[in-house]
Amino acid sequence: MRGLILAGGRGTRLYPLTIGVSKQLLPVYDKPMVYYPLSMLMLAGIREMLVISSPEDLPQFRRLLGDGARWGVRFEYAEQTEPRGLADAFNVGRDFIGGETSCLILGDNIFFGTGLWDHLRRAAQLEEGALIFAYPVRDPRSYGVIEFDEQGRALSIEEKPEKPRSKYAVPGLYFYDRQVCDLVARLKPSPRGELEITDVNRIYLERGQLRVQQLGRGVAWLDAGTHETLLQASTFVQAVEERQGLMIGCPEEVAYRMGFIGRDQLADLARDLRYNSYGEYLLRLLEEPL
Ligand code: G1P
Repeated sequence: MRGLILAGGRGTRLYPLTIGVSKQLLPVYDKPMVYYPLSMLMLAGIREMLVISSPEDLPQFRRLLGDGARWGVRFEYAEQTEPRGLADAFNVGRDFIGGETSCLILGDNIFFGTGLWDHLRRAAQLEEGALIFAYPVRDPRSYGVIEFDEQGRALSIEEKPEKPRSKYAVPGLYFYDRQVCDLVARLKPSPRGELEITDVNRIYLERGQLRVQQLGRGVAWLDAGTHETLLQASTFVQAVEERQGLMIGCPEEVAYRMGFIGRDQLADLARDLRYNSYGEYLLRLLEEPL
């Protein structure tokens, strides 16, 4: 399975913060925002990832992430010249995906909680159809919204409805079979001029090929797209990390625990960062049993 990280968009809701720097490079407490979705893909066992961003921002992502070798993964980079919608990631990423199954994650979505790893591991085994998630939120109007029948089967899916039919928002984490690139190639832009991921999911739903996994209250899903939610995400990460002494969204740790790198490689990474608490954390990992 190939991973796509979409880190495009103009981030206008975060102006003036995002005039000079990409939203997905802003700090969420102690790391760049993109580390969180990146760690999710790695937790799913995905080692080949395409980072998609604007031509202006891509060089910074390259500087931050490199080719991925130090984390035992491989990053490629692709430009999205205009923000043409989330589903456009599959046009941009078509060659990279190369007929494999794929997972798209949005660069501003942060997940944390129990059971996530099992969901991810299972999702990464997907061979047919699509798998998305549903998460209850107080105000679902700014999301894709999914409606279920009494048996928990998905009935409808709508993008940013004024009158949501349920409280279940669809987080920015999507798993697809090998059809998705062809399907997106035929997709028409929505009235707001974008290739909507919700339209892709609706096609799978109409074909009877959409699976929806509900995420319960043991999982936190945050998107960091506004000033309020960006601060909330930082505060949340800080609270959990300080209390537990465990990091959220630390790619070096995930690489080590997933077996992508060994002790020696982790020790090298820790040495490079040893003058701050991040490096000290990595050094502590080496002292504990895996
Ligand atoms: C996008 C999708 C929406 C999804 C959301 C998750 O919205 O269009 O369906 O629920 O991401 O973060 P955006 O936040 O890009 O407007």
